[in-house]
Amino acid sequence: MFLVTGATGGIGRRVVRLLRQREQSVRAFVRLTSRYSELEHRGAEIFIGDLREEKDIQKASRGVRYIISAHGSDSDALSLDYRANIELIDQAKANGVEHFVFISVLGADRGYEDAPVFKAKRAVERYLSASGLNYTILRPAGLASNLLPLVERFRETGLYLLIGDRKNRTSIVSTDDLAKIVVDSVTVEGARNQILSVGGPEILLREDIPRIFGRIFNKQPVIINSPLLAVDGLQSALGLFNPQIQKALGTYRTLLANEFFCTKDEIATLEAIYNFKLETLENFLRRYLAV
Ligand SMILES: NC(=O)c1ccc[n+]([C@@H]2O[C@H](COP(=O)([O-])OP(=O)(O)OC[C@H]3O[C@@H](n4cnc5c(N)ncnc54)[C@H](OP(=O)(O)O)[C@@H]3O)[C@@H](O)[C@H]2O)c1
Repeated sequence: MFLVTGATGGIGRRVVRLLRQREQSVRAFVRLTSRYSELEHRGAEIFIGDLREEKDIQKASRGVRYIISAHGSDSDALSLDYRANIELIDQAKANGVEHFVFISVLGADRGYEDAPVFKAKRAVERYLSASGLNYTILRPAGLASNLLPLVERFRETGLYLLIGDRKNRTSIVSTDDLAKIVVDSVTVEGARNQILSVGGPEILLREDIPRIFGRIFNKQPVIINSPLLAVDGLQSALGLFNPQIQKALGTYRTLLANEFFCTKDEIATLEAIYNFKLETLENFLRRYLAV
């Protein structure tokens, strides 16, 4: 039995689908408010709970063989990115779990002071590596599935909003490739006890993204390039009313202000370990848009 947290998210949903296609038994940890009917139809066991509650994590972990932690944090990095994962790791030990897969983030080890998600991920990586469990820590760059709503908007308007430096490099990864990597991590020998950067096969500039959109729809993109200062202004203004949102924006700003790409060697290592060719962003988008 696999326990998957974040089972209704971009990565988790695809992980559950793939596990069910392979006829594996899956317990999907969802909230009552989550959109989980698809997972139920695919034959996943639905566990309704809240990852902020230790007792829910304890119950959900009973009798599982593998844990895949793929939840996000709703701007509460301390409770969800940190505490919930520490509890999942403790429960994995208590239940004799054979392998724990943790979705971290590219750059978790760069020491970004104002990015609570990155700090929490790094602390969890350390805790998991020292836990004695078999593990795989995956550090993805941006997910291609995040771009699906943007490409739909582009189809209608031809507009693309780009905040920050348009020349920053990124290695956006196909979310379907990532799901396959997650699932294969529990069986592929080369993935055991590894921390792996995960990106797509190409290093893109951020301005390449609207160009790819333009190529797909045969439309010249209009790029609206807003400076990072706009986010700084918003962050200061929101901080007056809600310090927690201000801190969460620190993670968002870190994502916009820095480069997140994998080296060619890292991609070659990934393809060698998992034994398949990663798809390009353009390929991913064309598949979903059926163009
Ligand atoms: N998106 C990216 O570009 C990216 C890049 C690198 C790393 N990552 C990491 O990858 C992981 C998954 O990202 P994603 O984009 O797939 O996530 P996502 O689409 O934002 O989904 C987040 C998931 O977490 C669940 N969740 C949030 N709070 C919860 C709670 N209190 N109790 C139970 N479940 C809760 C959500 O449930 P609901 O459906 O109920 O909201 C949802 O299933 C995250 O750890 C993220 O940091 C993401």
